[in-house]
Formats: sequence, structure tokens, C-alpha cells
Amino acid sequence: MPTTAFSRLFATAALSLAFFLTNPLPAAPATIRVDGPGRPISPDLFGIFFEDLNYAADGGLYAELIQNRSFEYQATEQPTWNSLTSWEFTARGGGKGSWAVAAAEPIHPNNPHYLALHVRQPGAGVGVVNAGFDGIPIQAGEHYALSLFAKQLYLKDRWAPAPTGADAVLAAKPRDGAPGPLLVRLESKDGENLGEVSFDWPGSEWTHLTATITARRTEATARLVVLVTIQGGLALDVISLFPPKTFHDRPNGLRADLAQVIADLQPRFMRFPGGCLAHGDGLGNMYRWKDTIGPIEQRREQANLWGYHQTVGLGYFEFFQFCEDIGAKPLPVVPAGVCCQNSGQKGGTGQRCLPLDQMSGYVQEVLDLIEYANGPATSTWGAKRAAAGHPEPFHLEYLGVGNEDTQTPGFRERFKLIYDAVKAQHPEITVIGTVGPFPDGPDFDAGWKFADELQLGMVDEHYYQKPEWFLNNLHRYDSYDRAKSKVYLGEYAAHDTGRRNTLRSALAEAAHMTALERNGDIVRLASYAPLLAREGHTQWTPDLIYFNSARVRLTANYYVQQMFATNRGETCFSATVSTPTDGAAPTVPLAVSCVQDSATGDVLLKLVNANPAVAAVQVELPSLGPIDPVGTCLVLAGDPDAVNTTENPSSVVPQTASLAVGKSFHYEAPAYSLAVIRMKTR
Ligand code: AHR
Repeated sequence: MPTTAFSRLFATAALSLAFFLTNPLPAAPATIRVDGPGRPISPDLFGIFFEDLNYAADGGLYAELIQNRSFEYQATEQPTWNSLTSWEFTARGGGKGSWAVAAAEPIHPNNPHYLALHVRQPGAGVGVVNAGFDGIPIQAGEHYALSLFAKQLYLKDRWAPAPTGADAVLAAKPRDGAPGPLLVRLESKDGENLGEVSFDWPGSEWTHLTATITARRTEATARLVVLVTIQGGLALDVISLFPPKTFHDRPNGLRADLAQVIADLQPRFMRFPGGCLAHGDGLGNMYRWKDTIGPIEQRREQANLWGYHQTVGLGYFEFFQFCEDIGAKPLPVVPAGVCCQNSGQKGGTGQRCLPLDQMSGYVQEVLDLIEYANGPATSTWGAKRAAAGHPEPFHLEYLGVGNEDTQTPGFRERFKLIYDAVKAQHPEITVIGTVGPFPDGPDFDAGWKFADELQLGMVDEHYYQKPEWFLNNLHRYDSYDRAKSKVYLGEYAAHDTGRRNTLRSALAEAAHMTALERNGDIVRLASYAPLLAREGHTQWTPDLIYFNSARVRLTANYYVQQMFATNRGETCFSATVSTPTDGAAPTVPLAVSCVQDSATGDVLLKLVNANPAVAAVQVELPSLGPIDPVGTCLVLAGDPDAVNTTENPSSVVPQTASLAVGKSFHYEAPAYSLAVIRMKTR
């Protein structure tokens, strides 16, 4: 062969090899065979897990716009914090005065601190400013719901006898038309008045003041300013501002845009109030549900284990209400009478147990929760639910007891006390136990052994692992003993390099979710974690939904959850994948599940191709009834490293197209894709 021809041939071969290496040929067609009759799987399989982490509650889902509204921030939360954090003192137009934290006569013992404002010379006003969580976003023409508590400490001079007669009357109630001496205003950063209300001077008992402030213009980072314009002393507490619209227009409600994207996941259940947050940083920090109900000014606020503050304005009533509003079954988690083993920064040795002589009271607290949720409005705790505006029960079915607790004798003893009492008095409730933070290991084994001994209804497994782990563990549940406790996969997420929300991580989760569906007879519930993260305030990534004051950003992982949850079924067919041995099999096996939705009769085939090449598949459904020739195919696909960012929030979003389907059809699954093929049966 002449040298030039040889070189040309060599060059062509080298090019082809290079092309093949960078663009692998489509894998040989595989066959997916779906067979009936199918077996029942959990109708509640896909849900959500809400934890107040990453500012998910205050500064997040809870719509309150004022930060540290009750002056209860403390240095135990962050070293630089105190009761006045997020507030600034202001003295306008020659005003003179001072501010202080007071605790002598609080509104309620659960809410011990308040603000004392001392005005020596009013000028144009002496008061305080709050910039909310990264600024208060307001829209022109909208009405913001203001609420605050105030009481006179003294009029005029603190040390002089209280004024009487006309002097006092004039101060308390200005002449007709004049604004009251307590002004509350929305302002821009540079002091432009964006809307204002005023109040008369309050009496010397705590008075609840409410009004709406209409925003004169749109501003992304407004502030709330409270000003006193007469000489005197005023106590202020629970200074609250809510947006005009909350989700389902609930008072003390939730941020509508965030709540809506959660609702759009169509979760069948919601676990709350958290994982580690529920059992708390030390026994005094356990999440005690009774502290979180009733009027907000009477709730016991406390430090958040994740390093910030919980107003518990989003408390048990609001959680139950939200579950109802989005059609999710409530799944509260109560501490098992022990705190987090990482309490006091002791890294696994900080578990402490409630003294045994407190356990009967604690067990009663758990039983009371069931009564609060389900008891008649005439019962003690049902009456409190009714007083909050919900006489009907909340239909509690599931109760989590404990979270990832180290399986110590102290834990077991307390868990059993709670479990025995609930089982005896409420056999209708499924108690969910805990098997540690990992998918295997000593706590996992001990937790399962304990569950076997107690014959627990369900246990809560957790795992945060690399994407490869998820792909390598698609058969984890195939061999689980069906006679034992059912599984709630309460927390899971694929953690890719840099803990980013890559499409790769989302597809690994999707592949695993096909395995959950295939095992939906034993895996009864599953929820990704964590759910929410405020940009710039994260303690944990990756998360499902990111947000700031103005916007919500959905991740590829969110779309995976949504694609599964909105394409669910209650019957799972067997779906076997066979790859011809004479072709190049996909490096990562295709992950497949096939379910039928009883409401519509639709058959839903889910297929994950986590390979860098198109996967051609022949789908055979011999034992299913007639199928319409045109189905739909919802696909999430793209660069495995793609992430939905603030700059490009739609880098990875699902696309729908119609697809020719039938009892036997061909499909080409794109590289790095999740496809949900919906077929109508006749
Ligand atoms: O989801 C974040 C944390 O991970 C949870 O609080 C805890 O249960 C787990 O360790």
C-alpha cells in the first residue's frame, strides 16, 4: 500500500476511533418486557420532608417579613446575636432617646423579651428599623398586614409623676386628623416613605394593634420603621408584617410562591418538623409540639439546631393545615425522649435521655398530639385545634418517633414506652421507628433488630450517598423480607462532586426511585431531603428548592421528584430489561419501573438511561389490555453536569412530546435521561 494511502487509512481509522471514544455508538437495542397482572404498591409512596434548615421556615416558607419580630434572638444561636439583632435604633430630625431589651412584664412567660423605647426628645421620631430577611420585598398598591403589641411604660419623663388630665389625653389621642404618636412605615434604604400608618398611644397594658400598610411603589429591599413622636417610654413586641397574599389565604400563613411549588410536587405525605431539628440540640432544645400552637405571642421560641432561630410561627397547627391544603397526609416526628447524639457539638456522644420520671408526662404529650390531630372538638386537645379554626380532624395516620438516634439502651427503653402507649391507645396509628443515619452499619442493624423485636409497622431509613451508590443499589429492597416492618425512606439524596444539584445526581435518584416503585409493596413512603434552602443562608446542600426574597429556583432533582409523584400508580407490573449479548450493553444498566394509575387506568413506564449514549429499547406489553396508539413522553435529559442556576434556572427542565406506543413499540432513550411514558389503556 502506498504510504499516502496508508496514512489516509490510518488517519481515517484514528478519527473513527476518536469519534467512537468521545461519542459512543448507541447501545444495542434492549427489550423491556412488561407483564401483568401486577401487584399493589403503596399509594402514598412519594412525599416530602420539611425541616427548618437553610432558613426553610423563618425567612422561608413562613411568610413573616420581619426578622426577630419578638426580640428573642440570643447569643446561644450565633455569638454576635442578641435580642436586638436585625433591629437598628433610629432618631430622626433632632430626636433623642435610647432603646433597651426588657423582660420585666412580658406579654407571656414563653415570650420573655421585648423592646423598651425611651424618647427624651421626639424630634421627627425615635424608633427602630427592621430590614427583614435580606430586605422586605413590597409591590406597589399591595396591602401589607401589620400587627404589633405595645404598651405605655410612661408618658413624658420617666422619673416625673405621670401626667394627668388634658396633657395625658392629648398625648394619647391627638387632635382630629393628626397622626397618632406611634408611626409604622415602610421605607426604602435611603429613607423614602413607601407607606405609613399611625396608632394612638396605648394604655399601660399590652395592646394588640393591627393595620394594613399600602405600598406606594415596588421595592425589593424595603424596611419597616417604627417611630414614636412624643416624649415617653413605650414597650413593643411581636412586630409582624405579612404579605397581602399567603398560600390559600391563611392567616399567619405561608409564602404563596414557595408553598405552590411544594404543592406542585403533589406529595402524598409531609414529614415535619425535621430530622435533627426534631430531636434537638440537647434535651432543652427538643421540638415540643405544644410550644408551637396557640397565639403566636404565646409560643415558646427557641434556638434552631442548625445555628439560627425558630419563632415557631410555622408550628404544628400550620403544618397540619398546610398538609391538608396540599392533599398530603401529615407525618409528624416526635423525639423518642432523647436528644440528638451530636448535641453540644459532641460528635456522636451527646445523646441524653429524658429522666425516666419525666417519661410518663412525655408519653402523654405524644398521646395528646394524636388527640390534637384527630380527637373530637370536644376533647381537651381537639378543642385547641377547633379554637385555632379547625374543628374537623386532621386525619393523622403516621407518627415518626425518633430520628437517626443512636441505638442505646436509653433510647430503646424510651422508644418502647412511647410505642407501647400509642399502640395500646391508638392502634390505628402507624408508628415509624428509626434505624440510624446510614444505609448500613451498627445503628442500622441494631435499629432493624429492635424493629423486629417490637414488630414495628415501619422504620425510617436515611442515606446521602454518591450517585454511583444509588445506581449500584437498585436491588437493595428486592430481597427485603416482606413479613417484616415496612420501610419509610425518610431522607435520601445523591451527593455529586461539590454537592451540586447536577442532572447526574437527579438521574441517580430517579433510577433509585424506579427501584422504590418496584418495591412499593415494602417501601411505603419516600422523601428527598432537604426540601428548601434560602440562597446565602444554607447549612446543607444539595437541596430540592432554592429561593431568595423574590424568586424560587427549581433543581433537576425537583423535576425528578415531580415526574415520579405526578405519574404515580397503585399497581406495579414486572418490567424486565434484557440486553442482547451480541450488542454493546449499556455500561450503566437501564433502570425501569412500570405502574398503573387506578384513577385513569393509564400505564406509566419510567426509564432511566444514565449512559452517555442513546439507548434504543423495544417495549413489549404482551399481557396488558389494549393500548391507545399515541401516548406522551415526558423527558428530562441533558448534560450530566448541568445545574439550574440563578443565571440559568432552566438549564434542565422536562419536555413533553407525543410518542407512538402500543403493545409493542420502539423508543430511543436519550443519553442521560429520565423518561416517563404515559399510555392510555382501553
Ligand atoms: O436532612 C438533613 C439532616 O440529615 C437531617 O436533619 C438529619 O436527619 C440527617 O442527618
